[in-house]
Amino acid sequence: MIPRHRLGVLISGRGSNLLALAEAIDTGVIPDAVISLVLSNKEDAPGLAHARALEIPALAITARGRSRAEQDREFIQRLQESGVTLVCLAGYMRLLSPEFIHAFPQAILNIHPSLLPAFPGLDAQAQALRYGVRTSGCTVHFVDEQLDHGVIVAQGAVPVLPGDDEASLSARILAQEHRLYPQAIAEVLAGGWRIEGRRLVSR
Ligand code: GAR
Repeated sequence: MIPRHRLGVLISGRGSNLLALAEAIDTGVIPDAVISLVLSNKEDAPGLAHARALEIPALAITARGRSRAEQDREFIQRLQESGVTLVCLAGYMRLLSPEFIHAFPQAILNIHPSLLPAFPGLDAQAQALRYGVRTSGCTVHFVDEQLDHGVIVAQGAVPVLPGDDEASLSARILAQEHRLYPQAIAEVLAGGWRIEGRRLVSR
């Protein structure tokens, strides 16, 4: 049977969340879905090789002197040609243009390695350590035009332990990301929700 939900995954680097999503589809944590396309803004993103090893179509779309809007237009076109119904940012380190966001209304998710609204932007784990929080974690949210800002779907907390450095905290958060993102995607794909202000509520 042809899966009903077609995911497009956007990456810039390692691709461990991409692998977690692929596994979650295989094991039925995300039912009735397929990753139709992996796109990267970096040619050398290791995640592209992971995708190809799983026989998922994967492609780098780089800036090549183009504006963000022009580059995003190519992303939109490729995703639409692949029939993508949900765009999942997985370590995609670039702000999306308004045109991109409008092309996939309520259908772009991101995972960020902090409990938003704390520590948006780059190096969220280092920001958390510098601030001295005792709990951090990760957030899955819809993407809007502001950085790490859209409506929250799910959050997972992890402790910050004495002696943690950026590597140890990042690893603990990443393990939580790999659990949380598939669950959040499954919840969004299942439907039966609406957005009320900043909240995701059951219909
Ligand atoms: C993950 O920790 C993800 O939360 C973070 O980049 C890492 C990508 O790892 N994303 C952001 O910081 C976005 N603001 P991965 O390539 O192994 O999935």
